[in-house]
Amino acid sequence: MTLRAKLTGTGMCVPDNVVTNHDLAKLMDTSDEWIRQRSGIVERRHVVPPQRPSELAEVAAQRALESAGIDAGDLDLIILATLSAEADFPGTSFFLQDRLGLSETPCFDLRAQCSGFVYSLSVANAFVKSGQYRRVLVVGCEVHSTGLDFSDDGRDVTVLFGDGAGAVIVEANDDPDDAGEILEVRIHAEGSFADKLWVEAPGSGLHPRMTQEILDEKRHYPRMQGRFVFKHATRRMPEVLLQTLSAASLKLEDVDHFLFHQANLRINEYVATQLEIPPEKCPSNIERYGNCSAASIPMLLDENVREGRIEPGDLVAMASFGAGFSWTSAVLRWS
Ligand code: COA
Repeated sequence: MTLRAKLTGTGMCVPDNVVTNHDLAKLMDTSDEWIRQRSGIVERRHVVPPQRPSELAEVAAQRALESAGIDAGDLDLIILATLSAEADFPGTSFFLQDRLGLSETPCFDLRAQCSGFVYSLSVANAFVKSGQYRRVLVVGCEVHSTGLDFSDDGRDVTVLFGDGAGAVIVEANDDPDDAGEILEVRIHAEGSFADKLWVEAPGSGLHPRMTQEILDEKRHYPRMQGRFVFKHATRRMPEVLLQTLSAASLKLEDVDHFLFHQANLRINEYVATQLEIPPEKCPSNIERYGNCSAASIPMLLDENVREGRIEPGDLVAMASFGAGFSWTSAVLRWS
């Protein structure tokens, strides 16, 4: 019998601290109108000291475990996707493992930026389908706010990003009567565009990794060629979505919910229009949370499951685009 993997639980956590566009306009030369019009974002959440990424990840993970009806001790593996790790090393997953009260469960971080969640889902799916593990916790977790430039120089990037964590449980499905299944996942990358959206420092490619000059030049803050990213995102997301659906022998019309990475409402509207997807099939929460990178898709999934919009039997398609460049899609049957 071919082993199948399905999602059995979801959870999310965002910091309580709400930062509105108006709050940012007090710190830098921007406006609520500019941010809303270009990105759809109204507010986002930022951690307050001493809040750490693994705290958000822990709450999201506990909620996912609870909704799956299992304990942390039942997990065989933890994968945590992030571009904003708690420390240079070890990965945030190790801090999370400890917070969950586990001492030997294997864990690792996966770095594929805004595509990190679906990349991690593809790894979890492969582990479960191979029979090596039965229960995998996949978490997307980001604390961007501690690494953003809140001066005018950083306004193009800083207004877009928020903090948060989302989690799912991926489990083996041995029940032939249960349709729940991760049907297909596709992951892609194009490293020649690595410096179109990146944080250069501190990095081991620099000698040394951090200097006063690097700080003065602000090379430790994210840099992005916004229009270039926009252009590639609106090409790659439809492309990979169609590829994944075709691999699953499905059509766009079969899909009940399209969960797009929440980078920019305008990117997602553009993708939906190109593919003639009705807006009601494309839920969004970017207006409340901004771009939470690897956390954005599992956060959106959790909200839609808990609010009853995603129901057993529904077909869910995910698609992402992010730094790297990286882009992905997954299609799954909810049960
Ligand atoms: N507030 C006000 N003005 C801003 C601003 C801000 N926060 N950020 C940039 N601007 C200014 C620019 O300086 C520029 O001014 P100029 O015309 O005087 O030079 C002007 O707004 C237009 O900038 P531009 O970058 O051309 O705007 P845009 O229409 O391309 O929109 C983005 C900018 C970032 C919203 C858009 O390019 C985008 O969404 N790109 C994709 C980003 C993304 O999704 N990244 C994450 C991928 S995971």
